[in-house]
Amino acid sequence: MLNLSRIYSLLERKPVKCALYERVDSTNKKASLIDIEKNEYMLIIAQQQTAGRGRFKREWYSPEGGLYLSIALRASQCRFPLTLLSVAGAAALEHYLKSISIENLCYRWPNDILAGQLKIGGILSEIAGDKVITGIGINLNIDHFPSHIRNTATSVLARTDLHSDPCQCAASIVNHYLQLKDNPSLIIDYLNNTPFIGKEINVKTTDSKYRGRVKGFDSAGLLILDTGEEEIEIYEGDLEVLR
Ligand code: BTN
Repeated sequence: MLNLSRIYSLLERKPVKCALYERVDSTNKKASLIDIEKNEYMLIIAQQQTAGRGRFKREWYSPEGGLYLSIALRASQCRFPLTLLSVAGAAALEHYLKSISIENLCYRWPNDILAGQLKIGGILSEIAGDKVITGIGINLNIDHFPSHIRNTATSVLARTDLHSDPCQCAASIVNHYLQLKDNPSLIIDYLNNTPFIGKEINVKTTDSKYRGRVKGFDSAGLLILDTGEEEIEIYEGDLEVLR
């Protein structure tokens, strides 16, 4: 059961604002509407979202049992681009999932964490005025997915047959995320250890499709793709590993 004072007690750095909702439209949207001061961070958590959103305005399935949180910082506190904040969110989520022994985890740049090739969590970083918001959705104690995502999604419950503690999950992710955002070199290390470096991929961006070999990532977290003819930098897209 989510409990605000328990989450708060587990946080290494205390947020200036911390709210827990039974149900919101979107924690990212909620965070975008609340002001914070310099050097502060805010945490919004929900048990359920009615309009959870993912990249490219996709829906994020957000029933009870999942965990939905957004961490907001003042943009001036961030020394690096939004892309790296999403990577920090992914690294923090993967770190938690490893700590509870979820196997076959894989980060699919830029926004997904997969377990056994199925999506178990997603990250959406957005700018709202002078804030940067990293929203993380975790399919924690979800035992049923609707038919349109049944073959692409999984949950911690499905992988372990155990109900996980959402307070522990939330605090672990936030603690790790805040450490990483102060150590960008650790985020780059995480990126450079992703399993698809050197692999042949297809990547679909909002306006183009590319095929090539992943050369690596630059210091802003952009993917460097070698198409055979040129090297291009990709900001975001849907990635499919071919071989
Ligand atoms: C994606 O896979 O495209 C990213 C999904 C991000 C979902 C999280 S849930 C918490 C936060 N609030 C939202 O509306 N979206 C993010």
